[in-house]
Amino acid sequence: MNSLVILGAGQFGRACFSLINTEFFRIIAFGDNSPSLRGTFLKEIPVLSVEDAIASRPDCILIAVSGQERSDALLHQAQEAGFRGKVLFLQNLRQLLDIRSAVLCRMADRLKAGSVPGAIGELGVYRGFTAGKLNALFPDRPLYLFDTFEGFSSQDIKEETARSCSFAREGEFSDTSEQLVLSLLPFPRQAVIRKGFFPDSAEGLEHVTYALVSLDADLYAPILAGLRYFFPRLSPGGMILLHDYNNDRFRGAHQAVDAYEAESGPLSLVPLCDLHGTAVIVKPF
Ligand SMILES: C[S@@+](CC[C@H](N)C(=O)[O-])C[C@H]1O[C@@H](n2cnc3c(N)ncnc32)[C@H](O)[C@@H]1O
Repeated sequence: MNSLVILGAGQFGRACFSLINTEFFRIIAFGDNSPSLRGTFLKEIPVLSVEDAIASRPDCILIAVSGQERSDALLHQAQEAGFRGKVLFLQNLRQLLDIRSAVLCRMADRLKAGSVPGAIGELGVYRGFTAGKLNALFPDRPLYLFDTFEGFSSQDIKEETARSCSFAREGEFSDTSEQLVLSLLPFPRQAVIRKGFFPDSAEGLEHVTYALVSLDADLYAPILAGLRYFFPRLSPGGMILLHDYNNDRFRGAHQAVDAYEAESGPLSLVPLCDLHGTAVIVKPF
């Protein structure tokens, strides 16, 4: 059995903790440069400085941060601290495997096999990465796309900040447009673009039923508004792919689910083990 140190105790490092196959690797420590994490424990595994983590003489290190530059800097730091063993890069796995998209395909298969009726929707479109996949998976269904296309609104950010859910900023994700998204969709004629602040942008769409929804607005207020709009309009057997449910960078998603369950009763929710903490919500038959 190889002993392993995970370098990076943020969202990705923590997600890796659950993904590591403990038949082959024994995790002995996290190493992180953030002084606020130092001395804490994640699932009983200590978070040490990078140097102290390397001093525990692991066989392997897993560099679990996003971005080539941060990844290279941690590798350099580990080598400076004397590490000469095997190095694994989360970056490589992220490029190779896309758990969230794979789950989306399986969800689509299930919805089609069960002939679950309804449109497809997404709240939080940005540049249309997921919207393109939804459109390709359901070429014959309307695709309702909700976004400000101007990034996060001041109103949502005010609530986000008051609740200390994240460090999101007004206007983040504004480098997009409806035209850009439409140009990337394989079947753009199915798209119904609703530009503007959600839930106002859903006005007039009270009659629509949905089979599948991607809820990816990052923040507490729009996610709660999304659950209030979409869940009652899901067909029986319909599903919501909720991004960030177990994401410490965007704690609003989890809080929005808690708030919705408090007002409307428990949801059938399955947390996934992808890096972003996605969850699937299913409407019972
Ligand atoms: C993480 S991005 C979405 C990423 C996208 N799903 C993808 O696959 O690339 C979050 C998006 O939610 C949108 N958003 C957040 N709050 C919103 C609101 N109240 N109304 C409309 N759009 C909102 C932002 O404008 C942003 O584009």
